Amino acid sequence: MAYVALDTVQGLISAFGWTKADNGAAHASMDLDASVGYVGEVYGDYIKYAGIDHFSGTVAEIGPGDNFGVSLLMRKGGAEEVFAIDRFYSRRDEASQDKIYEALSQKHDMADLFDGVPSEKNILNLHYKYGEPAETFFADREQEYDALVSRAVFEHLFDPIKVLRDTTEKLKPGGVQVHEIDLRDHGMFFGHHPLTFLTVSKGLYRLMTKNAGRPNRVMNHVYKDWLQASGLDFEIRIKGLVGVDVSFEPDTWDNLDTALKSKAIKIVQDIRPALSAEFTDVADEELAASIVILVLKKQNDT
Ligand SMILES: C[S@@+](CC[C@H](N)C(=O)[O-])C[C@H]1O[C@@H](n2cnc3c(N)ncnc32)[C@H](O)[C@@H]1O
Repeated sequence: MAYVALDTVQGLISAFGWTKADNGAAHASMDLDASVGYVGEVYGDYIKYAGIDHFSGTVAEIGPGDNFGVSLLMRKGGAEEVFAIDRFYSRRDEASQDKIYEALSQKHDMADLFDGVPSEKNILNLHYKYGEPAETFFADREQEYDALVSRAVFEHLFDPIKVLRDTTEKLKPGGVQVHEIDLRDHGMFFGHHPLTFLTVSKGLYRLMTKNAGRPNRVMNHVYKDWLQASGLDFEIRIKGLVGVDVSFEPDTWDNLDTALKSKAIKIVQDIRPALSAEFTDVADEELAASIVILVLKKQNDT
């Protein structure tokens, strides 16, 4: 019930057009070294998963949050321009952010990507578009992209499949998309079975989450079904498994370690009798994925 109340408050805030949010303030809790490392890690993951060694042309980063370091590394690698698209303006401390940009500029020799001293406002060819959800942003514009990426964003979208449809329509032939999606409950039922949030009925869950950006419960099977029907070249790499604490190299389900998969399946089966109706027919394997990476490619002749 507390989540329903909090969600109602968030709905009122949004109705008044307030777009500042703590969601996406990833760097607020990091020191300088951690921030620089995080930016490098996220960028490195994108190129690794996309199977490229650099970005080029026009790129969109959906939901970048409070820092544009990843966009900068894309520019450094060869992207001509980056659109950073965010529903909210994540809170940030300008002085700390300037230090991150200064450190990134030095580390990666990027002074030429700023119009003046390294700072958010001086990044050349970065188009920061905040205050509008991805659900309308892509559909309402003609702009096309060579690549679109996101991390920890799709689970917060109120219509992620619409966004996937729209971004795919705006992806140029030969282009690639990489979306890392965290399918966990984001601490909503901390201390309980990790899939407790899937036991809440559809109607109640909607009241708990529709305004506040809490996880949308669009699970792996929904993305897989859409991708299979799309005719695109795609891969779903699993980066996390339910109830499995060890980290492993993201890979397709078939290639993952059998013992880890069995452990996650068992944890899904433990809660299966209590699942909300919309999940009762979903295969164990689909609910066992806790973090997934969607990699989509549009062929040149598409
Ligand atoms: C958890 S943060 C992730 C930030 C960053 N990508 C990272 O990995 O640190 C989620 C981001 O998605 C953005 N977001 C949430 N709903 C959105 C929507 N409907 N359209 C566009 N961005 C959205 C939030 O404002 C926030 O910046």
